[in-house]
Amino acid sequence: MRHLHFVVLIFACPILSGTLATAQTHQAQTEAGDAAPYKSPKLPVEQRVQDLLSRMTLEEKVAMLSGSGWMESQPNPRLGIPSIKMADGPMGVRSWAGSSALTSAPGSTVLKVTSTAFPAGVAMAATWDTDLVRREAQAIGQEMKALGRNMILGPTLNINRVPLWGRNFEGYGEDPYLTARMGVAYIQGVQSKGVSATAKHFAANNQEYERHRIDARIDERALQEIYFPAFKAAVKEAGVWSVMSAYNKVNGTYCAENAALLKDVLQKQWGFKGFVVSDWGSTYSTADTVNAGMDLEMPGGEPMKAWLKTDGPRASGNSGGWLVPEKVLPELAAGRIKTAVVDDNVSRILRVLFASGQFDHLRTATAEVDTPGQRALARTAADEGIVLLKNTGDLLPLNLPKIHSLAIIGPNAAVARTGSGGSSLVRPNYAVAPLEGIRERAGSNVQVSYALGTSMELEDPSQDTPEARERSRNEAVALAEKADAAIVIVGRFPKFESEGFDIKSLDLPSGQDDLIEAVAKANKNTIVVINTGAPITMTRWIAQVPAILDMWYSGQEGGHALADVLFGDFNPSGKLPVSFVKEWKDSPAYGHYPGENLQVEYGESIYVGYRYFDKYKTEPLYPFGYGLSYTKFDYSDFKITPSVRGDRPVEVSLRVRNSGSRKGAEVVELYVHDGHSSVDRPINELKGFRRVELAPGETKSVTFSLDRSAMSYFSTTKKDWVAEPGQFDVLVGASSRDIRLKGSFTLEHDLPR
Ligand code: BGC
Repeated sequence: MRHLHFVVLIFACPILSGTLATAQTHQAQTEAGDAAPYKSPKLPVEQRVQDLLSRMTLEEKVAMLSGSGWMESQPNPRLGIPSIKMADGPMGVRSWAGSSALTSAPGSTVLKVTSTAFPAGVAMAATWDTDLVRREAQAIGQEMKALGRNMILGPTLNINRVPLWGRNFEGYGEDPYLTARMGVAYIQGVQSKGVSATAKHFAANNQEYERHRIDARIDERALQEIYFPAFKAAVKEAGVWSVMSAYNKVNGTYCAENAALLKDVLQKQWGFKGFVVSDWGSTYSTADTVNAGMDLEMPGGEPMKAWLKTDGPRASGNSGGWLVPEKVLPELAAGRIKTAVVDDNVSRILRVLFASGQFDHLRTATAEVDTPGQRALARTAADEGIVLLKNTGDLLPLNLPKIHSLAIIGPNAAVARTGSGGSSLVRPNYAVAPLEGIRERAGSNVQVSYALGTSMELEDPSQDTPEARERSRNEAVALAEKADAAIVIVGRFPKFESEGFDIKSLDLPSGQDDLIEAVAKANKNTIVVINTGAPITMTRWIAQVPAILDMWYSGQEGGHALADVLFGDFNPSGKLPVSFVKEWKDSPAYGHYPGENLQVEYGESIYVGYRYFDKYKTEPLYPFGYGLSYTKFDYSDFKITPSVRGDRPVEVSLRVRNSGSRKGAEVVELYVHDGHSSVDRPINELKGFRRVELAPGETKSVTFSLDRSAMSYFSTTKKDWVAEPGQFDVLVGASSRDIRLKGSFTLEHDLPR
């Protein structure tokens, strides 16, 4: 069902000029008076921080260490310090009224918030389009302001280590470089609107199984090379204002009290100046947490107390309420926490309030949610994220004038599965299901019929019997037999794939593999559309179907986007940000997951995703970076200069030509191979990519500049990144396993940073 878009009007103050209205009214009544230096936006942020800090009592500072509600930090009316108003992301703005169990519950009466549902993180990563991610994040920033919130809890920067991770859909895939590029674009986009982004969950939150108690045992190199880079880029490149500590332990210590992570890595090594917020219910101590540099405990206040009294958090291992004044003040008195530490923690929160403009500007006077522009952006994002995995005999795109009938089948066909379960699930004003999108585009000349095919288990328990399943399957087969083509839309839904638990199996649930096999037998033009956030296995039916598309969870415009691709209005350009395995036992972490006795050894170390498949010569079902197009691209004119590198960066250039007859976009991927390393290194590592749009016959130049980071590994003996002199190969191609151009350069000596 479609609703009219609406305009949100929120005014806390008169409109002064432009989009931001300065709200001084709350400050005018403060004790410090208007002349206090911290109130002047003209003064440097650090001066304002120090001035404000010097006016605060110890009790007032301590009060700021924990939240005042489910999604609000503690305000200070005496000094005019506003509360930071948070909302979950990352795929849109979500209701802040309480836990996702509460806000997503059917019939829930708590505050309903609707906003644009953008595609899941994994779908955004599949676009390999950083500019698009930036625009998505700007739109989310705009909606945040429209709704009166100023800190979004996203992006999710955790690496897809295990294909069974329940939250794979939120992240940007298996590669640290790709994740970093996407994360930087997202953070810059959100923060350009004066809204804080939150890089989460630091660190190594790679499974939901026992997420509150598990101890992730990870070697230093894997942390530095795989799990840290996106967070490091978030801090050093994007200047993220907030980082969320993860639920789990890393190497024996809870992330929220892990000084090695928060003080040594985040603050000292990367120079983080913003504040760390705890994940909701992830604190377990007072002094250790404050001293480790965990600045703001969430949630807080009465909602926190009420929540912790319920059974759910206790059973799963949540904990909280450790940074409330009643607990922090005695630790200060006993000398286990120093005032200087509290000063530092509070000054981080104040710094963000000043630097982001949130202290000076309350919120926009007018702003919009779900505008035509935001809808169009959600559609473009969904279009670009779709990956064409198989297209035998160029079955796709469907040639509408020649088609008279289509059978649309599957438990994910008539419902729009925009995202998946947990804190990221956005409630949009409308959402287009695949069936709706296909019907709309196919028009009245095509007979579009629909069959459920098999009920999604647990969705309608009356259909969860072998008889009901067989009946549904037979109905679907009967439709498929009569149609020119059958489109089977399969996948998961929040009860199978969600925050809070891991996926039980890589095989499709609810008899969907049987359904695909049966439909493929009935109709040789069977197209399978995958609607999940994580890989699935396909071995049972892959050889029997000519075409496969992965649409992921693609937000409110998913149904339109699918129709765009099926009928050729949009030429697919998405590439996989994760490898697909043939079977679960081929996964890098197989045997090292989910751990025993509440410990999980990251035994595969740096060999995550394609790094593992390359090294151990395992054939994935579909490799990292893979995706087809309706046109063809030729690569040529490869140049690497200089071939012997002194201190100048290495420039790599090539030309890409669209040699087919349709316009399209190619994602050009650049990998580096270090063949002379004194330590074991992955065979190839992604170090660059560009998405290039080309008209038929058009050629464009693509250039890359390789700096020291493209050549370095983390030395555990030197405790630093090392680029070893010698020959490096540069491999450029259309996927990690489709290398079209290869050359090399020699590094003469390690380079200055
Ligand atoms: C999730 C976070 C989320 C927070 C607040 C936690 O359960 O892990 O990603 O931001 O809840 O809803």
